[in-house]
Amino acid sequence: MLYTQELTERINELKKERNAVILAHNYERAEIQDIADFIGDSLELSQKAVELDVDIIVFCGVNFMAESAAVLCPEKTVLLPELDARCPMADMVKPDSLLYLKKQHPDAAVVCYVNTTAEIKAECDICCTSANAIEIVNSLDQEKIIFIPDKNLSEYVARNTDKKIIPWEGYCPTHNQILPIDVQRAKNLHPMAQVLAHPECRYEVLDMADKICSTTGMVNYARTSRCNEFIIATESGLMHRLQKENPQKKFYEVSPYTICPGMKMIDLKAVADSLEHMRYVIEVPGDIRVKAKNALDRMLAVKIKR
Ligand code: 13P
Ligand code: SF4
Repeated sequence: MLYTQELTERINELKKERNAVILAHNYERAEIQDIADFIGDSLELSQKAVELDVDIIVFCGVNFMAESAAVLCPEKTVLLPELDARCPMADMVKPDSLLYLKKQHPDAAVVCYVNTTAEIKAECDICCTSANAIEIVNSLDQEKIIFIPDKNLSEYVARNTDKKIIPWEGYCPTHNQILPIDVQRAKNLHPMAQVLAHPECRYEVLDMADKICSTTGMVNYARTSRCNEFIIATESGLMHRLQKENPQKKFYEVSPYTICPGMKMIDLKAVADSLEHMRYVIEVPGDIRVKAKNALDRMLAVKIKR
């Protein structure tokens, strides 16, 4: 306990000294969420990175999120406390294979989920997140859309748009392993609960959901809903924020295995060390940065209702 307190005090001192803020994704460890200046989904964290008037952003999330902040804010130093905090889905698409697909569909626009590397974003027309994927696709002039890398999110979008979606075979190992039987088991145990599912889940799982939305979408829905019990079909880190912000409501994990290893890598010691030693600075080479920024800027320009 004392150790936690000492580390927290050290982090707060270093934040002041360095004019830094801590941004944390909704899936981060509870201790990280508790010391963060701002917690959010991928879209909110990108928006926040741009808005903030600070010198340093300590990004508690996975690599592609810190990279997006570095692309969007070249004047700020972006630190990722653990270099191995990565998203396996973001590594499921390589530039050569994407260029090949683009050649096969020269009339298609390319939409990439933010869960991609900057190198891949640089080859895309526009980015999207789970909070705005349908709006982004519908905002484009083209009727054909290459949608990378998540096959589940692309199927969700395809079912909610008139455009022709050309999918990629990527997936999130954490969400893709949630099966309808997990949802059914949770529903049997908690018959009054509503099911909230992230669109990275398989379609059979989304079909059983009362609400499909981003991580912050779930926080907003739980707060405003008249329902008092929820089964949460997404990564387990969100449970902390849901329970903390709605102490009178009940939240149940859809299964005990919904853990993203990358999102659990950063602890308080890593954040303190990151600020102390200014590590690990996330940098994106100039030409890739400029092209990736275009795709992210285009996304941020599309206004959505939250
Ligand atoms: P959100 O943008 O909904 O927070 O999702 C990010 C993510 O990585 C989901 O697995
Ligand atoms: Fe990537 Fe899945 Fe982890 Fe999200 S939960 S960061 S998509 S591996």
